[in-house]
Amino acid sequence: MMLSFSEKRIAISGGAIGFGREMALQFTALGADVHVCDIRAEAMQDLAEAGINTYVVDLCDRKAASGWISRVSRQGASPIDVLINNAGGVAGQQGKAIELVTDAEWDSVLDINLNAAFALSRAVAPLMKQAGQGKIINICSGAALKASLTGVQAYCAAKHALLGLTRQLAHELGPFGIQVNAVAPGFVFTNEATKKQWDNFGEERQQQLLQSIALRRLGNVKDIANTAIFLASDLSSFINGQIISVDGGS
Ligand SMILES: NC(=O)c1ccc[n+]([C@@H]2O[C@H](COP(=O)([O-])OP(=O)(O)OC[C@H]3O[C@@H](n4cnc5c(N)ncnc54)[C@H](O)[C@@H]3O)[C@@H](O)[C@H]2O)c1
Repeated sequence: MMLSFSEKRIAISGGAIGFGREMALQFTALGADVHVCDIRAEAMQDLAEAGINTYVVDLCDRKAASGWISRVSRQGASPIDVLINNAGGVAGQQGKAIELVTDAEWDSVLDINLNAAFALSRAVAPLMKQAGQGKIINICSGAALKASLTGVQAYCAAKHALLGLTRQLAHELGPFGIQVNAVAPGFVFTNEATKKQWDNFGEERQQQLLQSIALRRLGNVKDIANTAIFLASDLSSFINGQIISVDGGS
């Protein structure tokens, strides 16, 4: 079966690099009208050149986040069919003892991984209700289900909360024809932070991690984008409130 997203409008948060970037390129190749926001203007330049609609938005500003959804929805007659809450990460932090974590550090991780998804979902829900259909896909993490490899407490807490938001919204919005699901990627090289984290593990822990994955390899951005494509497609029409681990079986 050939998947096509022509006439589908897809909004992806945090699409400048990594999973978001790969999803933007793949959905565009499948015919979708893709809208990407990120805080990194430069990193989105080539996406814009590839015909993807790009917006510089700081998603930690909830007004700006909702404003982005309004802007995307005003771009044409059709509604936003799919929102992918992808922006996240550890906000430049490394694991340390909880007594050393500042309020600002805690808040910055909650802001981007949880509060931004709340603001974007809140803004898109009435539009999807009006359309009688829609899909929200939350990019969680293995850290939504267990302790995080990063050791960053706020990251683990935020991803667990994002899974809670996924399950709650699936029940709230399901009667309106809206599905809400989550993806839990395993460890994937996407940015400097993940490379540094891998190096910091050291040879022995790197091998342990690889041996703990049934498929004996790390995932890549395509593995994650493919799962988002499945969840965004009609193939997932009866899946709601679920989290799919994409971690090679760990
Ligand atoms: N890479 C991994 O190993 C891994 C594993 C599990 C889950 N995840 C999650 O997957 C998602 C994507 O991760 P990634 O590794 O591809 O990239 P990432 O975590 O570095 O960030 C994704 C994007 O979010 C953007 N972003 C950060 N703060 C922002 C802000 N305030 N406003 C707007 N945009 C902002 C970044 O610029 C980046 O382009 C994140 O939610 C991350 O937590 C990643």
